[in-house]
Amino acid sequence: MRTLFKHGTVVTPDKTFPADLLVDGERIAAIAPDLPADGATVVDGGGTYLLPGGIDVHTHLDMPLNGIASADDFHSGHVAAAFGGTTSHIDFAIQPKGAALREALDLWHERARGKACIDYGFHMTIADPTPAVLREIARLPEWGVPSVKVLMAYKGRLQVDDATLFAVLREAARHGLLTMVHCENGDVIEILTREAVAAGNLGPKFHPLTRPAELEGEATGRAIALAAVAAAPVYIVHLTCDLALQQVRGARARGQHVWAETCPQYFFFTADDLDRPGFEGAKFVCSPPFRTTRDQEALWEGVRDGTLSVVSTDHCPFNFATEKVRGRDDFTKIPNGVPVIEDRLSVLHDAGVVAGRISLNRFVELTATNPARLFGLYPRKGALAVGADADIVLWDPKRERTLSARTHHMRVDYNLFEGMTVRGAPAGVWLRGRQIVDGDRFLGQPGTGQFLHRDRFAVELAP
Ligand code: URP
Ligand code: ZN
Ligand code: ZN
Repeated sequence: MRTLFKHGTVVTPDKTFPADLLVDGERIAAIAPDLPADGATVVDGGGTYLLPGGIDVHTHLDMPLNGIASADDFHSGHVAAAFGGTTSHIDFAIQPKGAALREALDLWHERARGKACIDYGFHMTIADPTPAVLREIARLPEWGVPSVKVLMAYKGRLQVDDATLFAVLREAARHGLLTMVHCENGDVIEILTREAVAAGNLGPKFHPLTRPAELEGEATGRAIALAAVAAAPVYIVHLTCDLALQQVRGARARGQHVWAETCPQYFFFTADDLDRPGFEGAKFVCSPPFRTTRDQEALWEGVRDGTLSVVSTDHCPFNFATEKVRGRDDFTKIPNGVPVIEDRLSVLHDAGVVAGRISLNRFVELTATNPARLFGLYPRKGALAVGADADIVLWDPKRERTLSARTHHMRVDYNLFEGMTVRGAPAGVWLRGRQIVDGDRFLGQPGTGQFLHRDRFAVELAP
């Protein structure tokens, strides 16, 4: 099947230029002015931009948590992602206590089987790092999983100590993997949380108060220091605050191999949102928590000056009426996480590009190209270039969307950005040459999304 995009404007991290783009089968075959149709299906891209399909490298679909699971699975999450212009994502396979990494990976492959409508890969979250598990890290690249994650928070569940973090960093680096770290000081959070509960401070607003920015800044600095000693590349997930940003900026200035992501929600919400009337604040409970407007400004500076390389979502939805409500009398029981997978590109485009904070080129770099470069997908994904997968978003910069649970495709009963009208949305989306979204119509098929067997981390490709 051949498709010719006529009269579009191609956007890459480096340039924006008018061109026709020809797709042959699953790949981009040519990008040039005035390409002949020669029997290809013609798509008129007039007035729109051609962007590489979005890549979300931080998601939690169908994630088990204390007897429930995050509300989107590999079908509903994929449909929602596609409507938002995301054609690939990387989810976290989480090692159950006592399980081998291979078992965990098999469990997550099973979750996606028969459901996937966009392409997907896995990172491996190491939760029970026995010596045998540390030895198993060497096998992950051959299974297409060249990245591991460890958490410095969630004590008693996922948190690892410094010795383990150091061991994982060293072992991962030895075998060409990138280590991702959730940076919050879980030990001190545990103390503050216990004290809050004992004092009867049980509402959602105490969630951010028990996880202050200092504890993210401290943990980020510690992870970076351990990575330096281990001579390991490190990627800081969901960075939220200036204190953590300064750690990343300093390390990068010293030439250390450190990269960091933030998520769109951290530009929009503050700790005050956790104090909305009634129990509404529970909708905003995620970790690390929302910070201050000053931190938001620092994050914008971070995406502008290159300290932040990626904007992913940490999509981890829980229904308000049936799941968030578990913590009505105790904020520590509110399942952590927020729904964002569908809205990532639109809200970032509106607050970033339309508001004049970042260029459209930087938008593409943050949401598609850098994720591909860091996570072993480039140049197959994240690029509009001859030979790349034809994952294409026909982006209408003027199309307005009012974000709402009534109209979104995420399988969750609230929208974080409810009522917000944003400019910029996909008019059409193609995955490996096949159209999966046409305006408001979904054309994809469950089971057609493919597992992304990713390449090892390559520092020379990293931003
Ligand atoms: O609150 C969040 N972010 N939940 C998902 C798990 C994590 O920490 O990334
Ligand atoms: Zn996390
Ligand atoms: Zn996460």
